[in-house]
Amino acid sequence: MKEKINTLLAKLEASKLGGGEERIKKQHAKGKLTARERISFLMDEASFEEIGALVTHRSKDFGMEKQIFEGDGVITGYGTIEGRLVYVFAQDFTVFGGSLSETHAEKIVKIMELSLKAGVPLIGLNDSGGARIQEGVNSLGGYADIFYRNVMASGVVPQLSAIMGPCAGGAVYSPAMTDFTIMVEQTSYMFVTGPNVVKTVTNEEISSEDLGGASAHSTKSGVTHLTAANDYDCIQKLKRLLSYLPQNCEELPNKVPYELGEEYIDGLEELIPASANQPYDMRSVINKIIDPNSFLEIQENFADNILIGYARLGGRSIGIVANQPMSLAGVLDVNASKKAARFVRTCDCFNVPLLVLVDVPGFLPGTDQEWNGIITNGAKLLYAFSEATVPRISVITRKAYGGAYDVMNSKHIGADMNYAFPTAEIAVMGAKGASEIIFKNEIRASENPEETLKEKEKEYAEKFANPYRAASRGFIDEVVLPKEIRRKLIKSFALLENKKHVNPKKKHGNIPL
Ligand code: HXC
Repeated sequence: MKEKINTLLAKLEASKLGGGEERIKKQHAKGKLTARERISFLMDEASFEEIGALVTHRSKDFGMEKQIFEGDGVITGYGTIEGRLVYVFAQDFTVFGGSLSETHAEKIVKIMELSLKAGVPLIGLNDSGGARIQEGVNSLGGYADIFYRNVMASGVVPQLSAIMGPCAGGAVYSPAMTDFTIMVEQTSYMFVTGPNVVKTVTNEEISSEDLGGASAHSTKSGVTHLTAANDYDCIQKLKRLLSYLPQNCEELPNKVPYELGEEYIDGLEELIPASANQPYDMRSVINKIIDPNSFLEIQENFADNILIGYARLGGRSIGIVANQPMSLAGVLDVNASKKAARFVRTCDCFNVPLLVLVDVPGFLPGTDQEWNGIITNGAKLLYAFSEATVPRISVITRKAYGGAYDVMNSKHIGADMNYAFPTAEIAVMGAKGASEIIFKNEIRASENPEETLKEKEKEYAEKFANPYRAASRGFIDEVVLPKEIRRKLIKSFALLENKKHVNPKKKHGNIPL
């Protein structure tokens, strides 16, 4: 018996060493933690239980039978984060560069299936040279097995992906199908084809970092939702993100204990300029309304004419979508529509109520937008709001013009509560543009066209540049003073806590992708 126990202990010990000390040193020299260090920083102390530590690959080609590493380059298991159960896999770059063999994939698939059955979030810490080259199609099959489970788990349990090293080729599609991706700056990259192939095909010369580093994907492509300065920061952000999400689609997100006070806000009125064209930072408005320091902004540097992110309001987890007048006057364009639509659907999957702050001049005009499909892409946001069944509340802080009024969670597309500040303007367009069109003949015939335009503009503004027409039709439920909005919102979300809304039965809708 003793001998057998010793064999087991030796194997477990070997599994803990990964690819050996030299390779661990190399990993550290790049500024990266090892897979095991990452897991221990992620999970509550002593909570991690490993599954499959003794798995080894089955490959016999290219002398692989002589290179056996217990665990086969990926650590899989479960444990708790702040007391909540999660499944996790962490690819171990010290073993064959974290490359994915058939058995490596089987280990990941196993915990994906367990997480789905148990209704528990799945976290992937990716650091891999891609398909294990020595295994050929077995490895490609392994990837597809993972992709399939990503899709099956989508909308059932939260899936979070951290990119903490290379992630190239088809491997990028697993993180892309999870709910969130976070990339570590300078040490991670994602691309379908790397710099060498790019050079051969398009003759462009570019580094891995410039092609698919955290900066490129957080500003240009929008592929990553968050970036982190290093491995520690990355894991902290993962934990924070998870805190806003429930365990699965059947549950509500955690509520932080909160005692309702007076809840009046100072200084919010002053933040919003009277003139409809003057920019202001919607982030400051958000931070006035929500619980202090609770805003976790998502895709901060991509399509920054719209803001999205999680926050707490009276201790409750909420998702925020807000036009940002500081950037492109808060207009809706292709990227902003895609960004917000995806976020709305993610919140809706996981029962996170939505707060929508509206200050939108309309859709961005131009050939670039039309030819890049602002019609289809704008429709994504309209569709996403319309089908969302979570509690949905809008506040029009200043203006809501044209089709964008409809799209931005209007009453007409199923919002539960619609509020407006007294300064809000709800109209087909701004007073000047509207007057130029509908009073064209009068202005032309007038002795002083400029003066007449101004008069007409004033007339139009008096009629429409306020929230009262909309309120008189019930499209706005209440016109609220800015200082009262936090109180109002806390109460409204509490009121909507048990909202039940079921859309018509169907196989699935056909969102304009
Ligand atoms: C087997 C691999 C490997 C791989 C790396 N290694 N990638 N072994 N299969 N895919 C091994 C290396 O041989 C080396 O072993 C160790 O991992 C560390 O690699 P280094 O090259 O020394 O590290 P580094 O200099 O940091 O470079 C990392 C790297 C590079 C950029 C990832 O290793 C690389 O280019 N690897 C190949 C990437 C690739 O082409 N993968 C296939 C992509 S196609 P030793 O023993 O020396 O330590 C793909 C398709 C997926 O993935 C399709 C899904 C549908």
